Amino acid sequence: MKIRTIDQVNLSGKRTLIRVDFNVPIDKSGTVTDDTRLQAVLPTIRLAIERGAKVILLSHLGRPKGKRLPEMSLAPVAPCLSRLLERPVAFANDCVGEAAESAVAAMRPGDVLLLENVRYEAGEEKNDEDLGRRLAALCDVYVNDAFATAHRGHSSNVAVVRFVKERAAGLLMKNEIAYFEKALVSPSRPLAAIFGGAKISGKIEAIRNVLDKVDKILIGGAMANTFFAAQGYGIGRSLYEAEMVDTAKQVLSGAAERKVRLYLPVDVVVAGRLDASAPTRTVAAREIPDDWMALDIGPATGALFREALRDAKTIVWNGPMGAFETAPFAAGTQAVMRALADSNALTIVGGGDTDTALHKAGLFSRMSYVSTGGGAFLELLEGKHLPGIAALEEK
Ligand code: 3PG
Repeated sequence: MKIRTIDQVNLSGKRTLIRVDFNVPIDKSGTVTDDTRLQAVLPTIRLAIERGAKVILLSHLGRPKGKRLPEMSLAPVAPCLSRLLERPVAFANDCVGEAAESAVAAMRPGDVLLLENVRYEAGEEKNDEDLGRRLAALCDVYVNDAFATAHRGHSSNVAVVRFVKERAAGLLMKNEIAYFEKALVSPSRPLAAIFGGAKISGKIEAIRNVLDKVDKILIGGAMANTFFAAQGYGIGRSLYEAEMVDTAKQVLSGAAERKVRLYLPVDVVVAGRLDASAPTRTVAAREIPDDWMALDIGPATGALFREALRDAKTIVWNGPMGAFETAPFAAGTQAVMRALADSNALTIVGGGDTDTALHKAGLFSRMSYVSTGGGAFLELLEGKHLPGIAALEEK
């Protein structure tokens, strides 16, 4: 893949439009409650400032579907970013048209301007050419650093590229691609993948794709229940997907054919309901009582997974091991986080839920790399070529 990166482009005095992913949670008082995605693009913004660019930031927030919904305005992000950058960040209440054009025209080298939510434009999600042309007219150089949006083919990351003079990837995009390649294109082995989360249906393509690449695969979370059903165990009232039982059987036989070691939970924490005050028990995975549901992997599984990961040189993890937001069901996810934190392997983690768990446990910085992409990371695991990345490739 030949993609130029921002550090290879002359930015001096140039209007530099950086597509970022500032799709961040904002509470009712207008406070950004998690600034991870802002922090992730600071190196790119700082580099552009140092090189004398006029830095124009473009993002979406939520899914307003072409409507100017005030609760999805990016306005609250400007002061938050300004604090992180320790310099003023101006805000234009439109991403194209007069408001954007006059704000850009007033910029000096080193200035930072944030444009309003690009999804206020109906054309954005349709990858509308005209919107792409109007966005391109705002800049001399286009930089895409919105890895978490790279699986979408929209005007601000695909159509726009057709009309810009120069295009490049930002430093975050460069890092995301580099770590992904280290994990799945040319990994140090053994390579282990851990999958969790509620549904196997949302991750089956990723599981199938990585089966051809990994040495070990570990499965936890509610998706393990569908595998238990495939093995003929009773699963009580546990969440599972009846229509995916055959698929789970294919994964089990596919792993055996490829000599990939597949690990499933051997014990689980069960309760009558998903509630912090509900009585819990730890039972063997084959013995989930009829009226109970599995809500976390058990301690024996935590130990088994830790042992399975001991010799791994590369570990990729997507999805929690249980209902970790509720305290009695968080231990399994914590055990896996701890195993990764203590490991000497290259550890690469992706998926919104897993990031939250890492932050809560204070183990975020103990991972080699935590991807900012949820859907984008998963689609890379599925072996897909992401439109936002493909658009940056040099012909
Ligand atoms: C995300 O949060 O995964 C990205 O910002 C993409 O958002 P979307 O799913 O609304 O396209």
